[in-house]
Amino acid sequence: MSNDLSHIHRFAPGNRREATPLLLLHGTGGDESDLLPLGEAIAPGASLLSPRGQVLEHGMPRFFRRLAEGVFDEDDVRRRANDLADFVVEARDRYGIASPIALGYSNGANIAAAMMLLRPEALAGGILLRAMVPLRDPPVANLAGRPVLIVSGRSDPIIPPSNSQRLAVMLTEAGADVQHRTLPVGHQLSQADLTIAKEWLRNIGAKTRSENVSA
Ligand code: MLT
Repeated sequence: MSNDLSHIHRFAPGNRREATPLLLLHGTGGDESDLLPLGEAIAPGASLLSPRGQVLEHGMPRFFRRLAEGVFDEDDVRRRANDLADFVVEARDRYGIASPIALGYSNGANIAAAMMLLRPEALAGGILLRAMVPLRDPPVANLAGRPVLIVSGRSDPIIPPSNSQRLAVMLTEAGADVQHRTLPVGHQLSQADLTIAKEWLRNIGAKTRSENVSA
């Protein structure tokens, strides 16, 4: 655990230099250690950068304040998304890594979506597990060609299907290359999330490599 940059975080250097690093963003009540096993399973050998959310809700770390479940303090979302994007810049400089793909779960997926809309240059893409619309009226972002995977749960008690669908449309309209999958599960992660995310990442890597060869 390091606390010498703006966010407490863990950094696990990968042994595959060509693999896109992952920015791991935990859910409410998680911390910087939570998603390391998931990151290793989804992207073996990739560098993993894992910050801790700076907001505490009854002692539970989060990435931004909320007024109630699913009702966000949007001023705080904006501020924290910018702070996190600044952290990514600091960490890339410190550890010498490329622009990461965010792998976020729940509150972590929501801040990743906010970062994509507010600071589109900060991330190379996103894997958003149980994400919802983070801002009612986001600025027009240019996410041209940025790959995004959204995985929702059909019986998620926190996120109505119409909300995750709206997020998919929002990111698509900003130019992102969005794949939206819905699983027969609730808010918790399942083995299928891991399998789908791993496969998606492998396809993204293959696509990037073939584009580099033909460029
Ligand atoms: C949020 O607050 O970001 C969402 O309601 C998900 C959660 O953390 O429960």
